[in-house]
Amino acid sequence: MSRETKIVTKEEVALQHEYMSRVRAIIEKEGKHLYALVRTFGCQQNEADSERLAGMAEAMGYEITDQESQADLILVNTCAIREHAELKALSITGQFKHLKAAKPELIIGICGCMVSQEHRLNDIKNRYPYVDFLFGTGEIYRFPELLYRAHGSAGRFFIVEETLGTLAEGLPVKRASNFKAWLSIMYGCNNFCTYCVVPYVRGRERSRLREDVLNEARELVSQGYKEITLLGQNVNSYGKDLGYDYDFSDLLADICAIEGDFIVRFMTSHPKDASKKLVDTIAANKKIARQFHLPLQSGSNAVLKAMNRRYTRESYLELIDYMKTKIPDIALTTDIIVGFPGETEEDFADTLDILSRVRYDNIYSFIYSPRRGTPAAQMEDQIPADIQSERFSRLLELQHAISNEINQTLVGTTRRVLVEGISKNDTGMYTGRCESGRLVHFASDVDLTGEIVDILIERAETFNIFGSVARTGKARVESAQI
Ligand code: 5AD
Ligand code: SF4
Repeated sequence: MSRETKIVTKEEVALQHEYMSRVRAIIEKEGKHLYALVRTFGCQQNEADSERLAGMAEAMGYEITDQESQADLILVNTCAIREHAELKALSITGQFKHLKAAKPELIIGICGCMVSQEHRLNDIKNRYPYVDFLFGTGEIYRFPELLYRAHGSAGRFFIVEETLGTLAEGLPVKRASNFKAWLSIMYGCNNFCTYCVVPYVRGRERSRLREDVLNEARELVSQGYKEITLLGQNVNSYGKDLGYDYDFSDLLADICAIEGDFIVRFMTSHPKDASKKLVDTIAANKKIARQFHLPLQSGSNAVLKAMNRRYTRESYLELIDYMKTKIPDIALTTDIIVGFPGETEEDFADTLDILSRVRYDNIYSFIYSPRRGTPAAQMEDQIPADIQSERFSRLLELQHAISNEINQTLVGTTRRVLVEGISKNDTGMYTGRCESGRLVHFASDVDLTGEIVDILIERAETFNIFGSVARTGKARVESAQI
Protein backbone atom coordinates (compact mmCIF):
# COMPACT_ATOMS: atom_id res chain seq x y z
CA MET A 1 0.00 0.00 0.00
CA SER A 2 1.42 3.39 -0.91
CA ARG A 3 1.36 5.87 1.95
CA GLU A 4 -0.23 9.26 1.27
CA THR A 5 -1.46 12.29 3.11
CA LYS A 6 -5.16 12.23 3.80
CA ILE A 7 -7.62 15.09 3.48
CA VAL A 8 -10.32 14.37 6.05
CA THR A 9 -13.74 14.69 4.41
CA LYS A 10 -16.65 16.78 5.73
CA GLU A 11 -18.51 13.52 6.41
CA GLU A 12 -15.63 12.19 8.53
CA VAL A 13 -15.55 15.43 10.51
CA ALA A 14 -19.33 15.25 10.94
CA LEU A 15 -18.88 11.74 12.32
CA GLN A 16 -16.46 13.09 14.93
CA HIS A 17 -19.06 15.70 15.91
CA GLU A 18 -21.49 12.82 16.31
CA TYR A 19 -19.01 11.11 18.66
CA MET A 20 -18.70 14.35 20.62
CA SER A 21 -22.48 14.30 21.17
CA ARG A 22 -22.34 10.67 22.21
CA VAL A 23 -19.62 11.23 24.81
CA ARG A 24 -21.49 14.27 26.06
CA ALA A 25 -24.63 12.16 26.43
CA ILE A 26 -22.74 9.51 28.42
CA ILE A 27 -21.35 12.13 30.79
CA GLU A 28 -24.72 13.86 31.19
CA LYS A 29 -26.44 10.53 31.85
CA GLU A 30 -23.99 9.81 34.65
CA GLY A 31 -24.74 13.27 36.03
CA LYS A 32 -21.05 13.98 36.65
CA HIS A 33 -19.01 17.13 36.26
CA LEU A 34 -15.78 15.94 34.64
CA TYR A 35 -12.46 17.69 34.15
CA ALA A 36 -9.87 17.28 31.39
CA LEU A 37 -6.21 18.21 31.51
CA VAL A 38 -3.92 18.48 28.48
CA ARG A 39 -0.16 18.50 29.13
CA THR A 40 1.84 19.76 26.18
CA PHE A 41 5.50 19.31 25.29
CA GLY A 42 7.36 20.69 22.29
CA CYS A 43 6.71 23.38 19.76
CA GLN A 44 3.93 25.84 18.98
CA GLN A 45 2.45 23.39 16.53
CA ASN A 46 1.93 21.01 19.41
CA GLU A 47 0.40 23.79 21.50
CA ALA A 48 -2.00 24.47 18.65
CA ASP A 49 -2.87 20.77 18.46
CA SER A 50 -3.50 20.76 22.21
CA GLU A 51 -5.90 23.68 21.81
CA ARG A 52 -7.89 21.53 19.36
CA LEU A 53 -7.83 18.60 21.78
CA ALA A 54 -9.02 20.86 24.59
CA GLY A 55 -11.72 22.28 22.30
CA MET A 56 -12.98 18.80 21.49
CA ALA A 57 -12.85 17.76 25.17
CA GLU A 58 -14.87 20.83 26.09
CA ALA A 59 -17.41 20.08 23.36
CA MET A 60 -17.76 16.63 24.90
CA GLY A 61 -18.72 18.12 28.24
CA TYR A 62 -15.40 18.30 30.05
CA GLU A 63 -14.25 21.38 31.88
CA ILE A 64 -10.59 22.13 31.18
CA THR A 65 -8.36 22.16 34.25
CA ASP A 66 -4.66 22.48 34.96
CA GLN A 67 -4.91 20.51 38.21
CA GLU A 68 -3.80 16.90 37.89
CA SER A 69 -5.60 15.90 41.08
CA GLN A 70 -8.89 17.23 39.68
CA ALA A 71 -8.63 15.57 36.26
CA ASP A 72 -10.90 12.76 35.05
CA LEU A 73 -9.17 12.73 31.67
CA ILE A 74 -5.47 13.40 31.11
CA LEU A 75 -3.89 13.76 27.68
CA VAL A 76 -0.13 14.02 27.26
CA ASN A 77 0.75 15.61 23.93
CA THR A 78 4.38 14.63 23.42
CA CYS A 79 7.39 15.86 21.44
CA ALA A 80 10.23 13.87 19.86
CA ILE A 81 12.62 16.57 18.71
CA ARG A 82 15.33 15.77 21.25
CA GLU A 83 15.83 13.00 23.76
CA HIS A 84 15.28 15.42 26.61
CA ALA A 85 11.73 16.19 25.41
CA GLU A 86 10.93 12.48 25.26
CA LEU A 87 12.33 11.79 28.71
CA LYS A 88 10.26 14.61 30.19
CA ALA A 89 7.05 13.24 28.66
CA LEU A 90 7.86 9.72 29.83
CA SER A 91 8.67 10.95 33.31
CA ILE A 92 5.40 12.86 33.66
CA THR A 93 3.49 9.86 32.33
CA GLY A 94 5.24 7.80 35.01
CA GLN A 95 3.93 10.12 37.69
CA PHE A 96 0.34 9.52 36.58
CA LYS A 97 0.53 5.93 37.82
CA HIS A 98 -0.28 7.12 41.35
CA LEU A 99 -3.19 9.23 40.13
CA LYS A 100 -4.66 6.24 38.35
CA ALA A 101 -4.21 4.05 41.43
CA ALA A 102 -6.08 6.60 43.54
CA LYS A 103 -8.79 7.16 40.89
CA PRO A 104 -9.24 4.04 38.71
CA GLU A 105 -11.89 5.71 36.52
CA LEU A 106 -9.29 8.28 35.37
CA ILE A 107 -8.73 8.01 31.60
CA ILE A 108 -5.14 8.59 30.41
CA GLY A 109 -4.29 9.13 26.73
CA ILE A 110 -0.91 9.81 25.13
CA CYS A 111 -0.55 11.42 21.72
CA GLY A 112 1.75 13.55 19.61
CA CYS A 113 5.12 13.18 17.96
CA MET A 114 6.91 10.89 20.42
CA VAL A 115 4.32 8.14 20.23
CA SER A 116 4.12 8.39 16.45
CA GLN A 117 7.40 6.42 16.51
CA GLU A 118 6.95 2.68 16.72
CA HIS A 119 9.56 2.06 19.42
CA ARG A 120 7.96 4.66 21.68
CA LEU A 121 4.49 3.27 21.02
CA ASN A 122 5.84 -0.07 22.21
CA ASP A 123 7.43 1.55 25.27
CA ILE A 124 4.07 2.96 26.31
CA LYS A 125 2.26 -0.28 25.54
CA ASN A 126 4.68 -2.40 27.55
CA ARG A 127 5.92 -0.18 30.36
CA TYR A 128 2.94 2.04 31.15
CA PRO A 129 0.01 -0.37 31.60
CA TYR A 130 -2.20 2.32 33.14
CA VAL A 131 -2.21 4.36 29.90
CA ASP A 132 -5.62 3.67 28.34
CA PHE A 133 -5.06 4.77 24.79
CA LEU A 134 -2.52 6.23 22.45
CA PHE A 135 -2.83 8.00 19.10
CA GLY A 136 -0.47 9.57 16.59
CA THR A 137 -0.34 13.07 15.15
CA GLY A 138 -2.46 11.93 12.18
CA GLU A 139 -5.30 10.80 14.43
CA ILE A 140 -5.83 13.98 16.42
CA TYR A 141 -9.04 14.67 14.51
CA ARG A 142 -10.35 11.27 15.66
CA PHE A 143 -9.96 12.07 19.35
CA PRO A 144 -13.78 12.12 19.96
CA GLU A 145 -14.17 8.64 18.49
CA LEU A 146 -11.21 7.37 20.53
CA LEU A 147 -12.48 8.89 23.73
CA TYR A 148 -15.91 7.37 23.09
CA ARG A 149 -14.21 4.02 22.77
CA ALA A 150 -12.22 4.61 25.99
CA HIS A 151 -15.47 5.39 27.82
CA GLY A 152 -16.89 2.07 26.57
CA SER A 153 -13.64 0.54 27.82
CA ALA A 154 -13.11 -2.70 25.99
CA GLY A 155 -9.42 -2.60 26.88
CA ARG A 156 -6.46 -0.44 25.92
CA PHE A 157 -5.79 0.60 22.33
CA PHE A 158 -2.94 2.14 20.34
CA ILE A 159 -3.57 3.84 17.02
CA VAL A 160 -0.91 5.26 14.74
CA GLU A 161 -2.07 4.82 11.20
CA GLU A 162 0.01 4.43 8.11
CA THR A 163 -0.80 7.79 6.52
CA LEU A 164 1.70 10.51 5.82
CA GLY A 165 -0.42 12.94 7.80
CA THR A 166 -3.97 14.20 7.82
CA LEU A 167 -5.64 17.55 7.27
CA ALA A 168 -9.00 18.23 8.91
CA GLU A 169 -11.18 21.35 9.07
CA GLY A 170 -14.11 22.20 11.31
CA LEU A 171 -12.97 20.93 14.70
CA PRO A 172 -13.59 23.02 17.81
CA VAL A 173 -10.73 24.85 19.50
CA LYS A 174 -10.20 26.19 22.99
CA ARG A 175 -7.49 28.81 22.82
CA ALA A 176 -5.22 29.26 25.81
CA SER A 177 -5.16 33.06 25.41
CA ASN A 178 -7.84 35.54 24.43
CA PHE A 179 -5.43 37.94 22.75
CA LYS A 180 -2.71 35.72 21.20
CA ALA A 181 -3.62 32.96 18.78
CA TRP A 182 -1.87 30.22 16.82
CA LEU A 183 -3.04 29.75 13.28
CA SER A 184 -1.74 26.59 11.61
CA ILE A 185 -1.44 27.15 7.88
CA MET A 186 0.22 23.89 6.98
CA TYR A 187 1.42 20.66 8.51
CA GLY A 188 4.32 18.29 7.97
CA CYS A 189 7.71 18.62 6.38
CA ASN A 190 9.37 17.39 3.17
CA ASN A 191 12.91 18.48 3.89
CA PHE A 192 14.50 15.53 5.68
CA CYS A 193 17.31 17.36 7.41
CA THR A 194 19.48 14.45 8.49
CA TYR A 195 19.18 15.16 12.23
CA CYS A 196 15.44 15.70 12.35
CA VAL A 197 12.63 13.39 13.34
CA VAL A 198 9.79 15.70 12.25
CA PRO A 199 9.22 14.33 8.71
CA TYR A 200 8.86 10.85 10.19
CA VAL A 201 6.36 11.82 12.88
CA ARG A 202 4.36 14.56 11.15
CA GLY A 203 4.31 13.34 7.59
CA ARG A 204 4.53 15.29 4.34
CA GLU A 205 3.74 18.94 3.74
CA ARG A 206 0.07 19.77 3.30
CA SER A 207 -1.37 23.27 3.17
CA ARG A 208 -4.75 24.37 4.40
CA LEU A 209 -6.88 26.01 1.75
CA ARG A 210 -6.51 29.76 1.40
CA GLU A 211 -10.15 30.40 2.34
CA ASP A 212 -9.95 28.19 5.44
CA VAL A 213 -6.90 30.11 6.70
CA LEU A 214 -8.32 33.52 5.82
CA ASN A 215 -11.67 32.75 7.44
CA GLU A 216 -9.96 31.70 10.64
CA ALA A 217 -7.82 34.85 10.58
CA ARG A 218 -10.90 37.05 10.06
CA GLU A 219 -12.67 35.30 12.89
CA LEU A 220 -9.69 35.84 15.22
CA VAL A 221 -9.52 39.54 14.39
CA SER A 222 -13.26 39.96 14.91
CA GLN A 223 -12.94 38.22 18.27
CA GLY A 224 -10.37 40.83 19.28
CA TYR A 225 -7.16 38.80 18.97
CA LYS A 226 -4.16 41.14 18.87
CA GLU A 227 -1.48 38.74 17.73
CA ILE A 228 -1.79 35.95 15.18
CA THR A 229 1.13 33.58 14.73
CA LEU A 230 1.04 31.58 11.52
CA LEU A 231 2.43 28.12 12.06
CA GLY A 232 4.01 25.54 9.83
CA GLN A 233 7.17 23.43 9.92
CA ASN A 234 8.26 25.30 6.81
CA VAL A 235 5.87 28.19 6.12
CA ASN A 236 7.73 29.18 2.96
CA SER A 237 6.42 26.03 1.30
CA TYR A 238 2.84 27.10 1.93
CA GLY A 239 0.64 26.65 -1.13
CA LYS A 240 3.01 24.50 -3.18
CA ASP A 241 0.63 21.53 -2.91
CA LEU A 242 -2.58 23.51 -3.47
CA GLY A 243 -2.56 23.40 -7.24
CA TYR A 244 -3.16 27.12 -7.69
CA ASP A 245 -0.75 30.00 -7.86
CA TYR A 246 -0.73 31.30 -4.31
CA ASP A 247 2.25 31.34 -1.97
CA PHE A 248 3.11 32.29 1.59
CA SER A 249 3.77 35.94 0.72
CA ASP A 250 0.34 36.18 -0.92
CA LEU A 251 -1.24 34.69 2.19
CA LEU A 252 0.59 37.13 4.46
CA ALA A 253 -0.51 40.07 2.35
CA ASP A 254 -4.14 38.89 2.41
CA ILE A 255 -4.08 38.47 6.19
CA CYS A 256 -2.61 41.94 6.62
CA ALA A 257 -5.43 43.32 4.48
CA ILE A 258 -7.95 42.31 7.15
CA GLU A 259 -9.09 45.45 8.87
CA GLY A 260 -8.07 45.88 12.52
CA ASP A 261 -5.14 46.53 14.85
CA PHE A 262 -3.20 43.31 15.19
CA ILE A 263 0.31 41.90 14.84
CA VAL A 264 1.17 39.00 12.54
CA ARG A 265 4.04 36.61 13.25
CA PHE A 266 5.05 33.39 11.56
CA MET A 267 7.31 30.43 12.05
CA THR A 268 9.29 28.52 10.96
CA SER A 269 11.11 29.51 7.77
CA HIS A 270 13.64 27.39 5.96
CA PRO A 271 16.48 29.54 4.55
CA LYS A 272 16.51 27.63 1.26
CA ASP A 273 12.90 28.69 0.62
CA ALA A 274 12.74 32.15 2.21
CA SER A 275 12.34 34.41 -0.80
CA LYS A 276 13.07 38.05 -1.49
CA LYS A 277 9.37 38.37 -2.26
CA LEU A 278 8.69 37.37 1.33
CA VAL A 279 11.10 40.01 2.62
CA ASP A 280 9.45 42.62 0.40
CA THR A 281 6.03 41.59 1.73
CA ILE A 282 7.19 42.08 5.32
CA ALA A 283 8.74 45.43 4.42
CA ALA A 284 5.45 46.57 2.86
CA ASN A 285 3.14 45.47 5.70
CA LYS A 286 3.46 47.15 9.10
CA LYS A 287 1.17 44.57 10.67
CA ILE A 288 3.91 41.97 10.32
CA ALA A 289 6.23 42.01 13.33
CA ARG A 290 9.70 43.26 12.55
CA GLN A 291 11.19 39.91 13.48
CA PHE A 292 12.45 37.04 11.38
CA HIS A 293 13.35 33.63 12.73
CA LEU A 294 15.67 32.01 10.22
CA PRO A 295 17.19 28.77 11.54
CA LEU A 296 20.85 28.59 10.55
CA GLN A 297 21.73 25.31 12.37
CA SER A 298 25.41 25.66 11.45
CA GLY A 299 27.68 28.27 9.88
CA SER A 300 29.88 25.67 8.19
CA ASN A 301 29.20 24.63 4.61
CA ALA A 302 30.49 21.12 5.30
CA VAL A 303 28.13 20.67 8.24
CA LEU A 304 25.21 22.23 6.35
CA LYS A 305 25.80 19.70 3.58
CA ALA A 306 25.92 16.80 6.05
CA MET A 307 22.69 18.14 7.54
CA ASN A 308 21.07 18.21 4.06
CA ARG A 309 20.10 21.84 4.54
CA ARG A 310 20.55 22.78 0.87
CA TYR A 311 21.90 26.30 1.37
CA THR A 312 25.35 27.68 2.01
CA ARG A 313 26.65 30.20 4.52
CA GLU A 314 27.11 32.58 1.59
CA SER A 315 23.51 32.31 0.35
CA TYR A 316 22.25 32.60 3.92
CA LEU A 317 24.28 35.76 4.54
CA GLU A 318 23.10 37.23 1.24
CA LEU A 319 19.48 36.79 2.31
CA ILE A 320 20.23 38.36 5.68
CA ASP A 321 21.87 41.34 3.96
CA TYR A 322 18.80 41.78 1.78
CA MET A 323 16.56 41.72 4.84
CA LYS A 324 18.66 44.27 6.70
CA THR A 325 18.64 46.56 3.68
CA LYS A 326 14.90 46.31 3.12
CA ILE A 327 13.86 46.27 6.79
CA PRO A 328 16.53 48.10 8.81
CA ASP A 329 14.77 47.56 12.15
CA ILE A 330 14.33 43.79 11.66
CA ALA A 331 15.19 41.66 14.70
CA LEU A 332 16.77 38.38 13.68
CA THR A 333 16.64 35.14 15.63
CA THR A 334 17.88 31.67 14.79
CA ASP A 335 18.29 28.04 15.83
CA ILE A 336 21.75 26.52 16.16
CA ILE A 337 22.70 22.88 16.67
CA VAL A 338 26.03 22.38 18.41
CA GLY A 339 28.09 19.20 18.10
CA PHE A 340 26.54 17.71 14.97
CA PRO A 341 28.46 14.54 13.91
CA GLY A 342 31.77 15.45 12.32
CA GLU A 343 31.70 19.10 13.44
CA THR A 344 35.32 20.23 13.72
CA GLU A 345 36.68 23.15 15.67
CA GLU A 346 36.90 25.08 12.35
CA ASP A 347 33.27 24.27 11.54
CA PHE A 348 32.23 25.54 14.93
CA ALA A 349 34.34 28.69 14.44
CA ASP A 350 32.32 29.29 11.23
CA THR A 351 29.12 29.22 13.29
CA LEU A 352 30.55 31.73 15.77
CA ASP A 353 31.64 33.86 12.83
CA ILE A 354 28.07 34.04 11.49
CA LEU A 355 26.79 35.05 14.93
CA SER A 356 29.25 37.95 14.93
CA ARG A 357 28.32 38.98 11.40
CA VAL A 358 24.53 38.68 11.62
CA ARG A 359 24.24 39.85 15.23
CA TYR A 360 21.03 38.01 16.09
CA ASP A 361 18.80 39.45 18.78
CA ASN A 362 18.52 35.99 20.23
CA ILE A 363 19.40 32.42 19.39
CA TYR A 364 17.83 29.10 20.34
CA SER A 365 20.71 26.69 20.67
CA PHE A 366 20.64 22.94 21.11
CA ILE A 367 23.17 20.22 21.67
CA TYR A 368 22.78 17.66 18.90
CA SER A 369 20.61 14.76 20.05
CA PRO A 370 20.68 11.57 17.93
CA ARG A 371 17.15 10.55 16.84
CA ARG A 372 16.42 6.96 16.03
CA GLY A 373 15.80 6.35 12.32
CA THR A 374 17.46 9.57 11.12
CA PRO A 375 20.61 9.42 8.94
CA ALA A 376 22.70 11.56 11.31
CA ALA A 377 22.24 9.07 14.14
CA GLN A 378 24.16 6.53 12.01
CA MET A 379 27.00 8.91 11.11
CA GLU A 380 30.51 8.26 12.30
CA ASP A 381 32.30 10.93 14.28
CA GLN A 382 29.62 11.55 16.86
CA ILE A 383 31.00 14.38 19.00
CA PRO A 384 31.82 13.57 22.65
CA ALA A 385 29.51 15.19 25.19
CA ASP A 386 32.27 17.21 26.87
CA ILE A 387 33.25 18.87 23.58
CA GLN A 388 29.60 19.53 22.76
CA SER A 389 28.95 21.26 26.05
CA GLU A 390 32.17 23.25 25.92
CA ARG A 391 31.19 24.57 22.46
CA PHE A 392 27.67 25.19 23.66
CA SER A 393 28.98 27.42 26.48
CA ARG A 394 31.18 29.38 24.08
CA LEU A 395 28.24 29.89 21.75
CA LEU A 396 26.06 31.22 24.55
CA GLU A 397 28.79 33.46 25.88
CA LEU A 398 29.20 35.16 22.50
CA GLN A 399 25.45 35.47 21.95
CA HIS A 400 24.78 36.90 25.41
CA ALA A 401 27.31 39.64 24.77
CA ILE A 402 25.67 40.44 21.40
CA SER A 403 22.13 40.38 22.83
CA ASN A 404 23.19 42.71 25.59
CA GLU A 405 24.83 45.14 23.17
CA ILE A 406 21.73 45.18 20.96
CA ASN A 407 19.48 45.69 23.97
CA GLN A 408 21.53 48.72 25.06
CA THR A 409 20.86 50.36 21.68
CA LEU A 410 17.13 50.21 22.44
CA VAL A 411 17.37 52.49 25.46
CA GLY A 412 15.66 55.77 24.64
CA THR A 413 13.51 54.32 21.82
CA THR A 414 9.79 53.64 21.90
CA ARG A 415 8.65 50.11 21.10
CA ARG A 416 5.30 48.61 20.25
CA VAL A 417 4.54 46.03 22.94
CA LEU A 418 1.75 43.47 23.32
CA VAL A 419 1.12 43.27 27.08
CA GLU A 420 1.03 39.66 28.27
CA GLY A 421 0.14 40.18 31.94
CA ILE A 422 1.64 40.65 35.38
CA SER A 423 5.38 39.95 35.55
CA LYS A 424 6.30 36.50 36.86
CA ASN A 425 9.22 37.89 38.84
CA ASP A 426 7.70 41.09 40.17
CA THR A 427 3.96 41.30 40.74
CA GLY A 428 4.20 45.10 40.79
CA MET A 429 5.17 45.07 37.11
CA TYR A 430 3.61 44.11 33.79
CA THR A 431 5.36 42.15 31.06
CA GLY A 432 4.93 42.32 27.33
CA ARG A 433 6.75 41.47 24.15
CA CYS A 434 8.20 43.85 21.60
CA GLU A 435 7.80 43.06 17.95
CA SER A 436 11.30 41.57 18.14
CA GLY A 437 10.02 39.05 20.69
CA ARG A 438 12.01 40.57 23.58
CA LEU A 439 10.42 40.73 27.01
CA VAL A 440 9.75 44.21 28.30
CA HIS A 441 8.83 45.04 31.90
CA PHE A 442 7.05 48.20 32.98
CA ALA A 443 4.86 49.57 35.76
CA SER A 444 1.22 50.46 35.19
CA ASP A 445 -1.68 51.43 37.44
CA VAL A 446 -4.20 49.98 35.02
CA ASP A 447 -4.32 46.44 33.72
CA LEU A 448 -3.21 46.63 30.08
CA THR A 449 -3.15 42.87 29.50
CA GLY A 450 -3.94 42.03 25.89
CA GLU A 451 -3.39 45.56 24.63
CA ILE A 452 -0.81 46.92 22.25
CA VAL A 453 1.02 49.73 24.04
CA ASP A 454 3.92 52.07 23.28
CA ILE A 455 6.71 51.61 25.81
CA LEU A 456 9.65 53.94 26.20
CA ILE A 457 12.71 51.78 26.93
CA GLU A 458 14.71 53.10 29.88
CA ARG A 459 17.08 50.31 30.90
CA ALA A 460 18.33 47.08 29.33
CA GLU A 461 19.93 43.82 30.43
CA THR A 462 20.89 40.70 28.46
CA PHE A 463 17.49 39.03 28.71
CA ASN A 464 15.13 41.78 29.84
CA ILE A 465 14.41 45.35 29.09
CA PHE A 466 12.57 47.86 31.26
CA GLY A 467 10.53 50.88 30.38
CA SER A 468 7.46 52.97 31.00
CA VAL A 469 4.18 53.48 29.17
CA ALA A 470 4.55 56.14 26.52
CA ARG A 471 0.89 56.07 25.49
CA THR A 472 -1.72 53.44 24.67
CA GLY A 473 -3.67 52.82 21.50
CA LYS A 474 -2.14 52.93 18.08
CA ALA A 475 1.58 52.66 18.43
CA ARG A 476 4.27 54.26 16.33
CA VAL A 477 7.46 52.29 15.93
CA GLU A 478 10.80 54.02 16.06
CA SER A 479 13.61 51.99 14.70
CA ALA A 480 16.73 51.62 16.77
CA GLN A 481 20.09 51.60 15.04
CA ILE A 482 20.90 47.94 15.44
N1 5AD B 1 19.14 17.57 18.01
C1 5AD B 1 19.24 18.85 18.45
N2 5AD B 1 18.46 19.84 18.01
C2 5AD B 1 17.56 19.55 17.06
N3 5AD B 1 16.66 20.31 16.43
C3 5AD B 1 15.96 19.54 15.58
N4 5AD B 1 16.39 18.27 15.65
C4 5AD B 1 17.39 18.25 16.56
C5 5AD B 1 18.23 17.24 17.06
N5 5AD B 1 18.16 15.98 16.63
C6 5AD B 1 16.56 21.75 16.62
C7 5AD B 1 16.79 22.52 15.33
C8 5AD B 1 15.41 22.98 14.98
C9 5AD B 1 14.79 23.19 16.33
C10 5AD B 1 13.30 23.24 16.34
O1 5AD B 1 15.25 22.07 17.06
O2 5AD B 1 17.62 23.62 15.63
O3 5AD B 1 15.40 24.17 14.21
FE1 SF4 C 1 6.98 20.04 17.42
FE2 SF4 C 1 8.90 18.64 16.22
FE3 SF4 C 1 8.47 18.35 18.83
FE4 SF4 C 1 6.73 17.41 17.04
S1 SF4 C 1 8.87 16.75 17.30
S2 SF4 C 1 6.26 18.60 18.90
S3 SF4 C 1 6.87 18.94 15.45
S4 SF4 C 1 9.20 20.19 17.83
